[in-house]
Amino acid sequence: MSESTTIRWEQDETGVVTLVLDDPNQSANTMNAAFKASIAAVADRAEAEKDSIRGIIYTSAKKTFFAGGDLKDMIQVGPEHAQQAFDTGTAIKAALRRIETLGKPVVAAINGAALGGGYEIALAAHHRVALDAPGSKIGLPEVTLGLLPAGGGVTRTVRLMGIADALLKVLLQGTQYSPRRALENGLVHEVAATPEEMLAKAHAFIDAHPESQQPWDVKGYRIPGGTPSHPRFAANLPAFPANLKKQTGGANYPAPRNILAAAVEGSQVDFDTALTIEARYFTELVTGQVAKNMIQAFFFDLQAVNSGASRPKETERRTVRKVAVLGAGMMGAGIAYSCARAGIDVVLKDVSPEAAAKGKAYSEKLLAKALSRGRTTEAQRDELLARITPTADPADLAGCDAVIEAVFEDTGLKHKVFQEIQDVVEPDALLCSNTSTLPITGLAEGVSRPADFIGLHFFSPVDKMPLVEIIKGERTGDEALARAFDLVRQIKKTPIVVNDSRGFFTSRVIGQFINEGVAMVGEGVEPASIEQAAAQAGYPAKVLSLMDELTLTLPRKIRNETKKAVEAAGGTWPGHPSDAVIDRMVDEFGRPGRSGGGGFYEYGEDGRRTRLWPGLREHFTKPGMQIPFRDMQERMLFSEALDTVRCFEEGVLMTVADANIGSIMGIGFPAWTGGVIQYINGYEGGLPGFVARARELAAAYGERFEPPALLVEKAEKGEKFSDA
Ligand code: NAI
Repeated sequence: MSESTTIRWEQDETGVVTLVLDDPNQSANTMNAAFKASIAAVADRAEAEKDSIRGIIYTSAKKTFFAGGDLKDMIQVGPEHAQQAFDTGTAIKAALRRIETLGKPVVAAINGAALGGGYEIALAAHHRVALDAPGSKIGLPEVTLGLLPAGGGVTRTVRLMGIADALLKVLLQGTQYSPRRALENGLVHEVAATPEEMLAKAHAFIDAHPESQQPWDVKGYRIPGGTPSHPRFAANLPAFPANLKKQTGGANYPAPRNILAAAVEGSQVDFDTALTIEARYFTELVTGQVAKNMIQAFFFDLQAVNSGASRPKETERRTVRKVAVLGAGMMGAGIAYSCARAGIDVVLKDVSPEAAAKGKAYSEKLLAKALSRGRTTEAQRDELLARITPTADPADLAGCDAVIEAVFEDTGLKHKVFQEIQDVVEPDALLCSNTSTLPITGLAEGVSRPADFIGLHFFSPVDKMPLVEIIKGERTGDEALARAFDLVRQIKKTPIVVNDSRGFFTSRVIGQFINEGVAMVGEGVEPASIEQAAAQAGYPAKVLSLMDELTLTLPRKIRNETKKAVEAAGGTWPGHPSDAVIDRMVDEFGRPGRSGGGGFYEYGEDGRRTRLWPGLREHFTKPGMQIPFRDMQERMLFSEALDTVRCFEEGVLMTVADANIGSIMGIGFPAWTGGVIQYINGYEGGLPGFVARARELAAAYGERFEPPALLVEKAEKGEKFSDA
């Protein structure tokens, strides 16, 4: 075989050929040009030597089975490359198909992660045995990058499990399954505990099925559950678009739409035509802007962020063994759970043993649910719970090498709780506050070691939200920053790093989004259409309902404090058109939000939203008042984007990757944009187009949309927005 080969052909004396995927030039196997040549050569040889072959096994010599497509290439594909993109996969698919239909049993021995293209190779085998390796994942996550699996993934999953299951279990959510859950959901046929067992099972399949075929190549095959022309299926089909909308929120996600179309259309034609349909819908996605945005964010930016681009390099990596969590309320309880889940011992302190125990009970509740869903075992549950020690006694914090404070949002109280414990914990313990708004520099004044003090801003609910915003105060040392970063990675969350400022990056920027929505209420816009605009723009939460959740009194408090600070520094406070609406809602109508009995919405006894408060129409809405729908959406998107640029100007943000990831994972900036800076860079007409549009919005809706100097400068130089 040629030197460029990425597949080793190993044939035993019984005629079983093991195809060992092993790209000599990379740590993981990908669908690159060398693979394309190798798989075609393998198919040729298999056909030529067919008579001496008893069966074929795909496996890999790498830790992962196969990584999938090469995203570095894909992100470069423009509309002018459409034909090329369409053709690229064709050769690989044709080779896999030739092996699949050789008339010999084909088995995938999945020895590690098989995502995207990796699982598509496995789907081209008649039988799939997965090694139950820790951390190994199986699935087709293309949708999360704005793509669809075009290596036969749509066509084969539809034929394997039927349209409904293929869409809901595999294609539309991009779920990544552990080998055991892949087995439960029908993605693989068997699971093996060891590599030897995996290969033994593969050989056993070949021995037992000398003339195996794919189910869909057997005469008379019907797609499980029927095709759209089947009456039972046709009855369910109308639910899919609604389901899609529920999952993706809005109109800006072309991938789920194309996946649905490829699955439905492909189910009604023969296998090869289905592959062509799949390729056509893929080509449309890969040449478009949304896939580029999502690949940039969820692959490149996320990798940069998690690999420590913002972490001081010189500092040694450390692991935390025992953490003190101060305050066992909503956030403290969630933080305790996340730490214990990562194997860290937790001392959870509150004002009374009862309050502390209540915080631990939250972990019990989460684990009971996980147990009932088969996501944990009783032994794992007991082990995790044993790591959490609830207490009201500061003495129990002895030996803690990190502290995370989550008591009420009050500077005086936060100073007090740190004073109580700073001499009890390890002398060099890392000191963190989970404040959501209070400047870290000010909080650090309350401790004896301000260099070890840092902000660690978690998001609610902590067990689900993947982001943590690390805030460096003026006196925070590099050592503390590195340790905070390592702690966030230790609990398997994604850290972004920002400099201190009121509201940091996330709280400050999401405030702009909310203010804009509320301002439109004040202008007389129909509240339901404001909510609709936010949803259509792709925001996961509607803007007025989000305001109700946060309570209307919170922005007022922040506004008053900020105003005071600005004026004390000799500046003028610009105010925001939303201020008057919030003041009237709270003072005149007594509607401070959900926890206060109602706000922009009314709530039932169970606390659920029932309807928009009818008083809004009476007191604010101007009948016939119209703002173009696009303006409504872009006012929200631009308000956040422009304030993010100001965060760069002020030195709050340092990297584009942190901004993009923080905006999507922390504050719900629409994922199709690829994050707040990618939204600017990818805007129609690039930076100049964005600047021109900002000026239009400024002329129509107020000075706050004037593009900041930094942005104008970059636009004039023809640059993209990038790290300084
Ligand atoms: P919470 O009101 O649910 O919990 C606060 C807890 O602190 C209570 O259990 C209280 O008994 C306890 N506490 C008060 N004094 C204490 C003391 N001297 N020693 C020990 N414990 C004491 O509040 P929540 O929502 O958990 O917020 C806590 C902190 O997290 C605040 O600074 C908040 O701004 C911040 N935060 C809140 C977010 C949210 O979504 N709620 C998001 C991110 C940060």
